[in-house]
Amino acid sequence: QTVKYTFGLEELEQRLAGYLSVPKVIVVAGDSDELPVVKKELGRAVVQQMKNRVRSGDVIAVAGGTTLASAAEMMVPDPRWQNTIFVPARGGLGEKVEIQANTISSAMAMKAQASYRLLHVPDQLSEDTRRSLMQEPGVQEVLDLLSTASIVVHGIGEAKTMAGRRTTSASLRSRLEEESAVAESFGYYVNQDGQVVHRENTVGLQWDELRRDQTVITVAGGSSKAKAIDAYMRYRPSSILITDEGAAKAILEQN
Ligand code: F6P
Repeated sequence: QTVKYTFGLEELEQRLAGYLSVPKVIVVAGDSDELPVVKKELGRAVVQQMKNRVRSGDVIAVAGGTTLASAAEMMVPDPRWQNTIFVPARGGLGEKVEIQANTISSAMAMKAQASYRLLHVPDQLSEDTRRSLMQEPGVQEVLDLLSTASIVVHGIGEAKTMAGRRTTSASLRSRLEEESAVAESFGYYVNQDGQVVHRENTVGLQWDELRRDQTVITVAGGSSKAKAIDAYMRYRPSSILITDEGAAKAILEQN
């Protein structure tokens, strides 16, 4: 059971919603950098918010990462998932299979007893290959579904951590550093003013395709992600931010 209503969390939620201009913020107790159980609580909160918003027949786009993997762990069957389709938000981004969007969205769907589609696209594509893969009927079908997603669930990573976790060339790493990248999401690296400094070449949801009528659920916690969360949230559309006390306090304190 969740420990959300410890004194002070609701005030943190309100202050953070105001500072980041996000309609809704949920803060779970603790700091996931220090306590792994906090990441489970983030996952539980993600599932709860998805459940609050989902309607029969919805397409749900799901990104990768360890935080979303913990949301998949927390998923349980519910009549509300009936007829929903889970799709990966992006193709491979050079990560371990367990935390790729394909794995996570299919795991969520299986636990929810819903259906899913896979995006069979390798990492590190040349622009020509990317374009021709997008013409493949199987890939095209998933991209068409993605464009109709009414719920998008994604994480945010700290730029250096993400570049280190992926197969990133030394030259790209130094460019990210030179250009002061602080955050990564959907394969986009941004600086603290929200400007894109690099975009990974894969297929799937692009930032400019996020729509106002979609529910975008953003989840990221841990005080080490404070700058990254700040840079993403102030410049990109999100309907709900789910974070933890460690990150929430660090974001408000650094300003
Ligand atoms: O690589 C997929 C991804 O969703 C990234 O876009 C994001 O930065 C990262 O995972 C978050 O991962 P984690 O939840 O493990 O910090």
